[in-house]
Amino acid sequence: MAFSRRQVNILCADCSSMRVQIMGAGALGSLVGALMQLSGFDVIFVARGKQLSALKNRLRVSGLIEAELDVHAVAKPENADITFVTVKAYDTEEAAKKLAEVDPGIVCSLQNGVGNEEILQKYCDKVLGGVTSYAANLADYGHVVYAGEGLTYVGELDGRMSDEAFKVAEALRRAGIKAEAVSDIQFRIWAKAVVNAAINPITALCKVRNGMVVENDNLWKVARSVAEEGRKVMLKMGYDFDAVSEIKRVAEMTAKNRSSMLQDVEKGKRTEIDFINGAIVEKGREMGIDCPVNETLLHLIKGIERG
Ligand SMILES: NC(=O)c1ccc[n+]([C@@H]2O[C@H](COP(=O)([O-])OP(=O)(O)OC[C@H]3O[C@@H](n4cnc5c(N)ncnc54)[C@H](OP(=O)(O)O)[C@@H]3O)[C@@H](O)[C@H]2O)c1
Repeated sequence: MAFSRRQVNILCADCSSMRVQIMGAGALGSLVGALMQLSGFDVIFVARGKQLSALKNRLRVSGLIEAELDVHAVAKPENADITFVTVKAYDTEEAAKKLAEVDPGIVCSLQNGVGNEEILQKYCDKVLGGVTSYAANLADYGHVVYAGEGLTYVGELDGRMSDEAFKVAEALRRAGIKAEAVSDIQFRIWAKAVVNAAINPITALCKVRNGMVVENDNLWKVARSVAEEGRKVMLKMGYDFDAVSEIKRVAEMTAKNRSSMLQDVEKGKRTEIDFINGAIVEKGREMGIDCPVNETLLHLIKGIERG
């Protein structure tokens, strides 16, 4: 998708009356917020540290589009019509507590991992689940690279098709983001977690790009075991998911990418492993299904995080 300068300046009347908030304006949040602001929404960027200072100056977008924006960047959330949560999973609880101090409107997670929505529900009234395959990286504080277009799904956790889910999907679409309201968001959250459970830790531990998970027989053997464990857990939950085929498809489609977990490990940052492999192990334990390969990967990554 490409915006011309002229298009960027055209404000959509309906959008400008809607306040959209980005809770955690890092890579993904800055991209979603920028696309929404460029389409005329009134956007609040909640950030912290050096990213907050940089955003107070301006937000630069490069990659699939080029844009520079003056943004409303703040340290604390404000009242809004829709709040997208884009903090890392381990920061969800702290973000949720801050959102509880205001009226965040419809709160929609766009995060990876299992359990974010349940945490948000403890503090916020109206929570939707979300899954996105849009890709963004922070080149520098205040500079996001729009690395790839994808698909975004949002939905009620209980599978109802609600006005709120349609409203959020429609708002994203108005910003040029491919989005759909769905009745199976829980399935999609788990399916993405099972795929990430294979690709992320293997690439992070072996320091390889995603494609190698399929190309290297040894790595593929581990990935298949992770997939099989995830498939069994999901089946017990009532979801029939062909995890092996999907992991192969995603690894091949993103062959040249360096996974976010690989990047986090290289930067010495914390990872989302607890909410990916950790969540599969925990759910398996609850349902009497052993997940030894997921558990091994969990401990190896946590070992690196602490080492
Ligand atoms: N990036 C992608 O392409 C992509 C695609 C799909 C899904 N996701 C998922 O989306 C989520 C975000 O990923 P990301 O890559 O955008 O991560 P990120 O770049 O680390 O962005 C998260 C941002 O939230 C900030 N933050 C955390 N808690 C905050 C708080 N209480 N108040 C204000 N700011 C806060 C973080 O600040 P600090 O840096 O100080 O911690 C960081 O700037 C993850 O679950 C990820 O798996 C990402």
